[in-house]
Amino acid sequence: MTTTTESLAVTPASGTAHTRLEGRDKVTGAARYAGEIPFAELAHGWLVLSTIARGRIRSVESGPVLAMPGVLAVLHHGNAPRLNGDYTNGFGTAEPILQVFQHDRVPHVGWPVALVVAETSEQAREAAETLVVHYDEEPHDIAFFPGRPGVRTPDGSPGTPTETQKGDLAAELAASAVVVDAEYTTPEEHHSPLEPHAAMARWDSGRLEVVDSNQGSRFVSEELAKLFSLDPASVRVRSEHVGGAFGAKATRPHVVLAAMAATVLHRPVRVVLTRRQMFSVIGYRSPTVQRVRLGADADGRLRAFDHQAQCLTSTVHEFVERSAQFGRVLYDADAHHTVDRVVPLDVPTPSWMRAPGKAPGSFALESALDELAEKCGIDPIALRARNEPEVGPLSGLPFGSRNLLACFQEGAARFGWSDRDPRPGTRREGRWLLGTGTAASTFPSAAAPSTAAVTAEADGTFTVRITAADVGTGARTALALIAADALGVEPARIRIKIADSDFGPAMVAGGSMGTRSWGWAITAAVRELKEQLALGGVIPPQGITARADTGEAIGALAKKERHSYGAQFAEVAVDVTSGEVRVRRMLGIFAAGRIINPLTARSQFIGGMTWGLSMALHEEAVRDQASGGHVGADLAGYHFAAHADVPLIEADWVDDPDEDDPVGIKGIGEIGIVGAAAAIANAVWHATGVRHRNLPIRPDRVL
Ligand code: MOS
Repeated sequence: MTTTTESLAVTPASGTAHTRLEGRDKVTGAARYAGEIPFAELAHGWLVLSTIARGRIRSVESGPVLAMPGVLAVLHHGNAPRLNGDYTNGFGTAEPILQVFQHDRVPHVGWPVALVVAETSEQAREAAETLVVHYDEEPHDIAFFPGRPGVRTPDGSPGTPTETQKGDLAAELAASAVVVDAEYTTPEEHHSPLEPHAAMARWDSGRLEVVDSNQGSRFVSEELAKLFSLDPASVRVRSEHVGGAFGAKATRPHVVLAAMAATVLHRPVRVVLTRRQMFSVIGYRSPTVQRVRLGADADGRLRAFDHQAQCLTSTVHEFVERSAQFGRVLYDADAHHTVDRVVPLDVPTPSWMRAPGKAPGSFALESALDELAEKCGIDPIALRARNEPEVGPLSGLPFGSRNLLACFQEGAARFGWSDRDPRPGTRREGRWLLGTGTAASTFPSAAAPSTAAVTAEADGTFTVRITAADVGTGARTALALIAADALGVEPARIRIKIADSDFGPAMVAGGSMGTRSWGWAITAAVRELKEQLALGGVIPPQGITARADTGEAIGALAKKERHSYGAQFAEVAVDVTSGEVRVRRMLGIFAAGRIINPLTARSQFIGGMTWGLSMALHEEAVRDQASGGHVGADLAGYHFAAHADVPLIEADWVDDPDEDDPVGIKGIGEIGIVGAAAAIANAVWHATGVRHRNLPIRPDRVL
């Protein structure tokens, strides 16, 4: 048949609610995750992690374990194949955490020291738990506290600078009528995606075929090719369904180990991490200590702005939780200073976790802003309005759309902010003290080069192929809607295939950039396809395929301060007898670009806000100084918000299409968590008159 899409104009698919395309498969169990797909001849690897915090492996007593039923191999530093350690990945860094079994050094508790492979998962686990590893132990240091020895300027971290400075801070602080100088802390926080990390690897017709749970199959395939010195075209990674991932599912050791074992054993091997292993192996959020100094005129105009943050990293790799970056575009001041410092300790390497830097940074800074509002006697929203910058405070660049104040306006009206008595400790309901709080939110908006292919099929349908990842957010569905609208057809005519590295390079599901980057590539491919179809003619049986690569278009974008914004509101009740804090309601209003699928977008925002609630009141990983390991590294010991802790949370948005994005998208993955904990902490202050500068706000801290 011949097709011109112009003649098929239909009501746009985006902007109205659509349930997930794979929703039925997920709730009926038809959707299979990486750890569930059956493979012939599959063997099972079980990871053995170090029990000491620092030292060397003296010996691995493989003998007795190899004699156990079903055991096929014990891989460790003494017998593992050599990996290429001299490369950088798609993010421009090396990943020493992937150099598994390449040396005898133990840099922290939970470092991978062996993989036991057996016929069944149970046999592998029993053997792994029996395996004796002898160590030469050395003294370790895991103590994280403000200004401790060894805190330094980051040295090797790529990305934006870790320190910025303008103006004379000391002079502006001295000239300020009102000064806030406070220290805030956030604890070590952990990922716990519902689906644990899992990977299967096998060699098939000369190709390394991998099924993994990750945020970007192309990044993983390219990294595996580099690690194993393979032709990139000979590695294929797929991750059709992913049960949660907000930074933890980049390339991780389990997938390297599955590939290594499959190579050694010449049969398919699957490695699944346990919940407990995830606390050491997949990355986490560093604890932070943050000092914020704000100096203002009596009317609240900022003269001095200083945000200094300290985080930790491992001795293996420098990862910096950039908390001090949060306020760089939010507020201007005559003197402006931000710096992130880091201290390497004998702990696992931290990594990305939803809104890296911005989540802890916004807690400190947006709490400090609330303290400043109190001291100035100004409404917290009015204080923020007074300090709206015209251009990027440090860059001088114009802003893309900046609708922060529209968020506060809409949020204040819907939350009932104007009825608020600003005095703390004035509302009481029996044993409960009640209070409300607010905080600003922002997150960068960017796109990364991606490729996509769109095929006009002979039967009138269209097939989209892109190495996108749907980590549970509904990305697959959003991309189908974007494709349908670009083609001008009903979504039912779109077939969308994602998460296969063979589809070509594409951005990962990360940095709130996934849907924007992929949507851009898809619209570009559709434009190309339309040109080909406009030439007319019959569509052959194999269809007509157009491809696009957005590298050039994204590179040509004018320089601007591009960000999303939001206003967070919370109402809390504090039990004066037990110290318990209950969040009664939360409202988040966001200006985060055009919203493609309101149903799943709302879930994204609410999910982020729930995580912020959890951060404010519950989450805290505790390390035992003596062993260097965690206390309670499981979902019983690591508390997070359960359903009973989560009240009515409302999320909505103001109109805010990005004028420079072909679809108008900005990205919504992370902004929901930003500022949420501060809004709650500010509400606790309003309820009780007491500032809580250390998270989580546990009952024992409230009393
Ligand atoms: Mo994320 S922390 O951008 O996966």
